[in-house]
Amino acid sequence: MNKVVILGAGTMGRGIAQVSALAGYPTVLTDISPEVLQAGVDGIQDFLAKGIARGKTTEAQRDQCMANLRWTTDLTEAATGADLVIEAVPEVMALKKQIFAQLNDITPATAILATNTSSLSVDEIARASGRADRVIGAHFFNPVPINKLLEIVRGEATSADTLDRLQAFGERIGKTCIVVKDSPGFASSRLGIVMALEAMRMVEQGVASAADIDTAMELGYRLPMGPLRLTDLVGLDVRLAIAESIHGATGSPVFEAPQLLRDLVAAGKLGRKSGAGFYDYGA
Ligand SMILES: NC(=O)c1ccc[n+]([C@@H]2O[C@H](COP(=O)([O-])OP(=O)(O)OC[C@H]3O[C@@H](n4cnc5c(N)ncnc54)[C@H](O)[C@@H]3O)[C@@H](O)[C@H]2O)c1
Repeated sequence: MNKVVILGAGTMGRGIAQVSALAGYPTVLTDISPEVLQAGVDGIQDFLAKGIARGKTTEAQRDQCMANLRWTTDLTEAATGADLVIEAVPEVMALKKQIFAQLNDITPATAILATNTSSLSVDEIARASGRADRVIGAHFFNPVPINKLLEIVRGEATSADTLDRLQAFGERIGKTCIVVKDSPGFASSRLGIVMALEAMRMVEQGVASAADIDTAMELGYRLPMGPLRLTDLVGLDVRLAIAESIHGATGSPVFEAPQLLRDLVAAGKLGRKSGAGFYDYGA
């Protein structure tokens, strides 16, 4: 691949651009906001500088990463001649559909168009693109430079060649790839949310405290972080949105959001980012 384009320079896009450029791909990062774009590039440079200070990144790697990275707010300039575009704009279906239709006009017919959506239907985005065989989900995890997982979501029309090429990209940037059929919540969100929602129901029913439920999963099941601590990290509002989206798509009661989750979100207790959630962070 001679040109990888990352659309959206927010939390996820900047991390994806970093790992792509670091792995040797000529990479262009683009965003509609010049401020966010500059913050994204500054964030990449900071991340690399910290890596050098900790002995995890070499100066040569940093130089290679920055030499491979370009950035612009001009989508046409960014996407012209692209081999792979990874979209990481906000989780809004109408926006993603509009962008994929636009990318179909700008990029070569052979280009792969990937979406980093965490919950939306890849098939629906693909149908809006005009090239469904070349559309695929590339679900990265936060923080992208550290988290090893890449969940590849294969749509019903995604071609074998598109899957092969994205898998090769994922391996070269150092990720462990899993391949999942397009379905509500994919594999990661679907399974992760069930445990979190059940843990909340257990708190509601007074079965055990949040801390004891997390300890049970951390020590007993050797999870690095219990489901409620993880919910505080991800954001209670984000988890509620995922639960509602999967519940809406499947109708299954296991995805029904507990009243406790709704009450905490309504009270502004969104987890770490707001200073409190299932735990208090003293903010
Ligand atoms: N944050 C996470 O932990 C996480 C994890 C996995 C997947 N995701 C998914 O990744 C996607 C992006 O999430 P994020 O957290 O990085 O969002 P974010 O809000 O931090 O960044 C989105 C960026 O897209 C830009 N943008 C909006 N419209 C644009 C356009 N038309 N062209 C170019 N740029 C545009 C915005 O200016 C913003 O900088 C979402 O689909 C989200 O569901 C997020």
